[in-house]
Amino acid sequence: MELIRTIRHMQDWSEAKRVRGQRIGFVPTMGFLHEGHLSLMRHARGQSDHLVVSIFVNPLQFGPKEDLAQYPRDLDRDLELMKPIPVDAVFHPEPEAMYPPGFQTRVEVTEVTKGLCGTFRPGHFTGVATVVLKLFNIVRPHLAVFGEKDYQQLVTIKRMAQDLNLDLVVEGQPTLREPDGLAMSSRNVYLSSEERRSALALSESLRLAQEMVTAGRRAAADILAAVREKIESRPHNKVQYAVLVDPLTLEDVTRVNDRAVLALAVFTGRTRLIDNALLTAP
Ligand code: PAF
Repeated sequence: MELIRTIRHMQDWSEAKRVRGQRIGFVPTMGFLHEGHLSLMRHARGQSDHLVVSIFVNPLQFGPKEDLAQYPRDLDRDLELMKPIPVDAVFHPEPEAMYPPGFQTRVEVTEVTKGLCGTFRPGHFTGVATVVLKLFNIVRPHLAVFGEKDYQQLVTIKRMAQDLNLDLVVEGQPTLREPDGLAMSSRNVYLSSEERRSALALSESLRLAQEMVTAGRRAAADILAAVREKIESRPHNKVQYAVLVDPLTLEDVTRVNDRAVLALAVFTGRTRLIDNALLTAP
């Protein structure tokens, strides 16, 4: 596994593989890896000749009051976890290399970023789209894999790839969960043990919503009221948003007639957790 720290080196590395006609799979991450990231890597690995993982805590996607400084980082631990995959190259640039003085370009995906997290994290998806396009230009992958846990991010990146005619495939992979249902996330380390118990209400409420739909309930207002109630009945939990949206446009739906994504953002104590599920009507 090669640790690559400069943009030039990464571009040369990828070019050498591409001229030989070899396929590059790519998993962008912000590090502090967990089993969810590793499953994305295994998936990308299985479909490529070479696997590149980036580890870069992207300052552009954090708001001024968000957890950029506290975001957990441990490169040695990450490198150890990736060994068995195996990963061929890890791209780990300095923020100054990605955003040198004078940097002033932004990639804005306008519509699918408006609601959900976009309402509460202004500029976040512009930061994500900008860094992901830069990473695509540096790593030049044929395939890039993202987790469905960040559902709005996945839709945003797919939209960007389509709108800008990027020559690669963007794929989503299902959310990995702890045995008790909690969606895996690097931010779970912020939770106290009591908060962690309360956080289980997110996945429980997603299951409850599917049960309601299966039982014939269709009205979004009823489903969302039950979801909020379930989550906020536990200590420390405050729902930031709970929405039912069209899986492609992310526009609100009023009824679950066929398929809809239930997306949640919840503060459990001071930790902001997100989760989602695709609800299907029988
Ligand atoms: O999902 C993440 O970890 C980040 O948003 C990403 C895609 C690596 C961009 O910084």
